[in-house]
Amino acid sequence: MTDVQLQPLPQYPVAQAIKERRSIKNFKNKPVSLEVIEELLDIAVWAPNHKIREPWRFIAYVEDGRKTLIQLLKREAESNKMGKPMKRAKIEYLLAIPAYLLVIMPEDPRPKVWEEDFAAVSAMIQNFQLAAWERGLGVIWKTDDFIYSPQVRQAIGVQPGEKIVGMLQIGYPEAVPKAQQRTSAAERLTVISDANSMLTEEEFHIPLSGENLFMNLPSTSKAEAIQLAGEKLVELGYVGESYIESMHEKELTKSTYLGNGICTPHGSKQAKESVVQSGVAVLHFPEGIDYENGERVYLMIAIAAERMFHLDVLRQAATMFEDKVQVDKIMASDSKEDFLRKFEEIHRETRVL
Ligand SMILES: Cc1cc2nc3c(=O)[nH]c(=O)nc-3n(C[C@H](O)[C@H](O)[C@H](O)COP(=O)(O)O)c2cc1C
Repeated sequence: MTDVQLQPLPQYPVAQAIKERRSIKNFKNKPVSLEVIEELLDIAVWAPNHKIREPWRFIAYVEDGRKTLIQLLKREAESNKMGKPMKRAKIEYLLAIPAYLLVIMPEDPRPKVWEEDFAAVSAMIQNFQLAAWERGLGVIWKTDDFIYSPQVRQAIGVQPGEKIVGMLQIGYPEAVPKAQQRTSAAERLTVISDANSMLTEEEFHIPLSGENLFMNLPSTSKAEAIQLAGEKLVELGYVGESYIESMHEKELTKSTYLGNGICTPHGSKQAKESVVQSGVAVLHFPEGIDYENGERVYLMIAIAAERMFHLDVLRQAATMFEDKVQVDKIMASDSKEDFLRKFEEIHRETRVL
């Protein structure tokens, strides 16, 4: 399968507007007509909204109407600063903003409905910003403290049970600020693409066979044991060499001791790139190794995990070996066959049905 080639941005005007839009703070001395604002709002209200509740209303301040709002903002600011007058420069700045739009939503007492409505209003505001941008207009969404002020709310007729979601300042950009870069989404993305990830607790099975079970290892230091576990994961073809270093690092930041003599070392999230295939290496230390705070580890379940696999392993290991009796049982194994048989038994007995 070949990857679809992405077209240059101008082929995708929505994508282009999303990426190029900036919040605008400096506007040209050019009025914005009410007709344009209404036109933009009629585009914006196509935002998704549950049950078509259309949870919004607006107050536009244009032309001299802006002075009404600025007067209110001035009074509010001065009451907060114990009567200290608003600076002339600030008033001039506010007067130079060509249009203001307050966006108001009903506050439904049911939390689910409130959240849906707030989400819909936010989507609608972003639509407005994008549609404006496409026409060469700039917007900034402001949430200054005054939107919560009872005096301001009363003066502009916002009812109890209504919320001012924001004040949009609108005009033709005098200057467009430099973009503040965004983090690549890949860094915040968890991908589920193998059927295993969808397995329920009762279906998941830590993949253990004669191949990835290493028995009767001599006692050693914690660091050497982790090193050995990492090398086994490499030999098994689950990870690249660099994964081992990340297992050591991970252990330094957060211990992977599970309890009852078991630990589950694994690499950090950043090391996922060196994972070739999900899998485990189980190391059996009959005499135990000194792990931390006087705890000894007898069973090391080293994990190489793509996506959610390590959570599945952790959950299952924690369930299987919650009871020390189960650990004692498996530790008493005298051969690989015996170990695997007991592992199956414990898995069956502790399965959540
Ligand atoms: C809910 C919300 C509230 C915001 N409130 C303010 C605000 O009060 N003052 C302000 O300067 N910018 C405000 N912004 C704009 C952000 O600062 C701006 O989106 C951010 O700096 C990224 O810049 P960009 O929009 O140009 O990409 C707000 C944005 C959102 C989504």
